[in-house]
Amino acid sequence: MDQETFSAVDEFVAATVVAEDEALRAAVEAAEAAGLPSFQVSPPQGKLLQMLVRLVGARTVLEFGTLGGYSSILMGRALPEDGRLITLEANPKFAAVASASIARAGLGDVVEVRIGPALESLPGLEEEGAGPFDLVFIDADKVNTPNYFAWALDRTRPGGLIIADNVVRDGSLAEEDSDDPATQAQRQLHETLLEEPRVAATTIQTVGVKGYDGFLIALVDGA
Ligand code: DHB
Ligand code: MG
Repeated sequence: MDQETFSAVDEFVAATVVAEDEALRAAVEAAEAAGLPSFQVSPPQGKLLQMLVRLVGARTVLEFGTLGGYSSILMGRALPEDGRLITLEANPKFAAVASASIARAGLGDVVEVRIGPALESLPGLEEEGAGPFDLVFIDADKVNTPNYFAWALDRTRPGGLIIADNVVRDGSLAEEDSDDPATQAQRQLHETLLEEPRVAATTIQTVGVKGYDGFLIALVDGA
C-alpha cells in the first residue's frame, strides 16, 4: 500500500458517499487562490465531523483553527437554525478568506470567525460566558493542542465531544524521543488522558489524501 492508493481511495469515496457541493468546492478554490496551505480536513474526515455534530445534537461548537473555513462550513451546516459555531483563527488573511467562504455558504449568521491566537481569544469567550460546548474541534497550532484540550475539557458538557486533529503525525506519536515539539505535545496529551477520569477517549489512525495521521476523539462523561 502506498500514498497513491490511499489518495485514490479517498477520491473514490469523495466521488460517491461524500459528495461535495458548490459552496464547499468554492471554499477550497478560494483558499487555493489566496495561497492558503491546503491543510483542511479531507472530504471523508469532514463528513465524519459533520456526522458527529449531528450525532451529539450539537447546538454550540467551538473550533480551534479555521484555515479556509472548510470544516467550519461542514459543521455549521449540521447545526440547528439557532445553533452557533465559533471558530478561532490566528492568521487574519486566513480568517478573511474563511469569512467570505462561510458567508457564500449561507452560514454568516451561524458561524463566527474570531481573529487572533486562540489562547488570546479564550479569556474573551470566558467573559462572555460562551459554552458549555457540545463539540470542540481542535485543529490549530499543534504545540498548543494540550492547552486547547484542557480549556475545552472544563467547558464541554457531559455527552459532548472533543476532537483533536493531527495527533498521529506520520507515526511519530509512538516515538518517545521525537525532537518535534508538535509530536511531544500530542504524546503529552495522550499521557494526560491516562489519568483523566472525565473522558473516554480513543485515537484513530488515518490514511488518505492527507497522508498518514490520525485524530483523537474524547467523549466527555463528566465523571
Ligand atoms: C498541518 C496542519 C493540519 O491541521 C493538518 O491537518 C495537516 C498539516 C500542518 O500545519 O502542517
Ligand atoms: Mg488538521
